Amino acid sequence: MRITIAGSGAIGSLFATYLSEGGHDIHLWTRGNATQIQRKRDENTQIGFASNSPDRLAESDAVFVAVKAFHVEEVLTELAQYLHPDSPVILTHNGMGTDELAARILPNNPLLFATTTHGSLRLSDSHIRHTGKGQTLVGGLNDSGKRCEFLAEVIHHSLPPCTWSDNVYLALWQKLAINCVINPLTAVHKIKNGELLNKKFSEVISSLSEEITNVMLADGMDSDCDIIRQNALQVAKDTAENYSSMNRDLHFKRRSEVDFITGYLISRANIHGIDVPANLSLWQQIKNLEQSYEK
Ligand code: PAF
Repeated sequence: MRITIAGSGAIGSLFATYLSEGGHDIHLWTRGNATQIQRKRDENTQIGFASNSPDRLAESDAVFVAVKAFHVEEVLTELAQYLHPDSPVILTHNGMGTDELAARILPNNPLLFATTTHGSLRLSDSHIRHTGKGQTLVGGLNDSGKRCEFLAEVIHHSLPPCTWSDNVYLALWQKLAINCVINPLTAVHKIKNGELLNKKFSEVISSLSEEITNVMLADGMDSDCDIIRQNALQVAKDTAENYSSMNRDLHFKRRSEVDFITGYLISRANIHGIDVPANLSLWQQIKNLEQSYEK
């Protein structure tokens, strides 16, 4: 397949190298200089890619958009000028809330979302490390996207395992719940994920989990407070030595994805008239930290 990958960060580069090794013709749409990507894990891989060709974009059989949630609108608007309306577009990023703007910018394209637990670390513009083998789940966001189950097989062939979900929104909410607990707490307290297992965080984690559960249930999702809390603690345990992405964003004084993680939860809570004070307080603390380094 002819595939364009928009965004050559850690996840975009990971997909680009594996899909290319799987025999696909990969073209990058990128602001960076990454026309050569080196991927390290068990073996060293270095692959060169064509980039930023409107013709290649227009001919793409599928497009992956692997940029941060707050760049999705800008990137889709750029892609929309060249994309064929039949070309499926697969979003992949932390957080939720980009589906509506994708539907507005690309009203005719099949739209999908891929959520992945693969660990990938960007070491430089053209160098990533596949730090942890994970799994990917893909599902459709609109009716035509829901008919693109074959894309899960395409990914599975190159970077297994990848499964298809008929209810990608539930999977996205479950991932959002984990991110709502781990990311802001580890960023505000400047700690690694594993430190959340300390007893002093158990009360706030319970409050966050309860609020998340209430909003998920109101949004029509199956949810259980104990499961939300246990899932978050399990991920904190499994990634104990890692810093969360929000911790790193604040550490390096970059814009975080809080508006698409805790901010999304708060916006859904407001729609349903549900109070979420623990989440609101963390959102405010992250915004204050971001504003302090923007000055
Ligand atoms: O955003 C992150 O850092 C990750 O999604 C997760 C799962 C919280 C692990 O650090």
